[in-house]
Amino acid sequence: MAKRITFHDHKPKALSLQEAVIQGFLGKPKSIPPKFFYDERGSALFAAICEQPEYYPPDIEQAMLGRLAEEIAELTGTGRVIFEPGAGSAAKIRLLLDALKPTAYVPMDISCEFLKEAACALVDEFPWLPVHATCVDFTHSLPIPESVPTGPRLAFFPGSSIGNFTPETACQFLAMVHDKIGRDGMLLIGVDTKKDPRILDAAYNDAAGVTAAFNLNLLHRIRNETGIECNPQNFEHRAFYNGDQGRVEMHLVSRCRQTLRLNGYRFEFGEGETVHTENSYKYTPEEFIALTANVGLDLQQFWLCEQDLFALYLFRSR
Ligand code: AVJ
Repeated sequence: MAKRITFHDHKPKALSLQEAVIQGFLGKPKSIPPKFFYDERGSALFAAICEQPEYYPPDIEQAMLGRLAEEIAELTGTGRVIFEPGAGSAAKIRLLLDALKPTAYVPMDISCEFLKEAACALVDEFPWLPVHATCVDFTHSLPIPESVPTGPRLAFFPGSSIGNFTPETACQFLAMVHDKIGRDGMLLIGVDTKKDPRILDAAYNDAAGVTAAFNLNLLHRIRNETGIECNPQNFEHRAFYNGDQGRVEMHLVSRCRQTLRLNGYRFEFGEGETVHTENSYKYTPEEFIALTANVGLDLQQFWLCEQDLFALYLFRSR
C-alpha cells in the first residue's frame, strides 16, 4: 500500500526565542516558557526522560492506554480524525491506532525535524494511516491542514502536557480544543495526579541527570541561537513540588553573581537567583473535573491507575 504522509509548517508567528529571552529575563522573577525546551536536542532529551525509572508517567499511561484501547474505542467509535498537540515521538498513539482506526492522524509539534522523523517512523509501522504532520506552537493555535478529511474528530492530549499551563490558561486551551474538535468531537487527555511529594521530586530529579540536562539545554539553545554570552556551567538544575500551588516547578539557578548581555541589554543575576523554566500542575480528579466544567466539554468516563498515580479522561463536545 502507498504510504501517505504530508508536512505542514505553521512556524509560530508568536514570540521568537530572542524576544522571549529578553521579555523573560526582564521579568521579576525571571522566566522562560517551557515550549522553548524543544529544539531537536531538547526533544531527544525529553524522550530520554521518558526512559528514566523515576519518571513514572509514560510507563503508567502507556499501560493504561494498552489496557483500555478497546474500551476507549467503544466510547469514541472508529473512523475519527485524530489530532495530537505536542505529539513528540508519537509513542502513545501507537497503542490506540488498531482499536480506533482513525481516518487520519495529525501530529502537531513545535520541534519540526523531530516531528518529521517521528511521522516517517509511524507511517513505516502503520502504512494504512494517512499522517498529516503539522509543525506548530500549539499554545498559539491548532491548525488542521486542509487536506485532512472531514468527519468526527478526536483530540488526543496525553502525557499531562496540560500541566504546563496554569489552570486559567489550561481552560483557554481546552476551549480552543473544543472549537477545533467541533460537533461530535471528543477529547482523550492524560493528566498527572497529586501524590506523595517524594515521588514527584524524584521524577523531576532523576539520578542519571537527564532532567537536569534537559533543563540546562535551554541555556545551550539560547546561547547558540541568540548569541547571548552565557556559560551554562554557571547555572544548575532545580526541581521541586510546590504544594501551595499544586505544581512541580523547574528552575535554572545562578551559581554566582553574573551579568548576561544580549542586544544592548544587561541582565543581572544574583547568586542563587533563578530562571523559572517550567510548571507542571498536578490535579486530583475532583480538581480536574471542576476545572473543565465551563469549557464546553462533557465528561464521558475517567480512569485512574492503581494507586491513583495517573488519570485519563474522555470528554465529548457539548
Ligand atoms: C511534557 C510537560 C508533561 O511536565 O512532566 C518532564 C515535561 N519536564 N520532566 C512534565 C517534563 C521535566 C513534562 N511534560
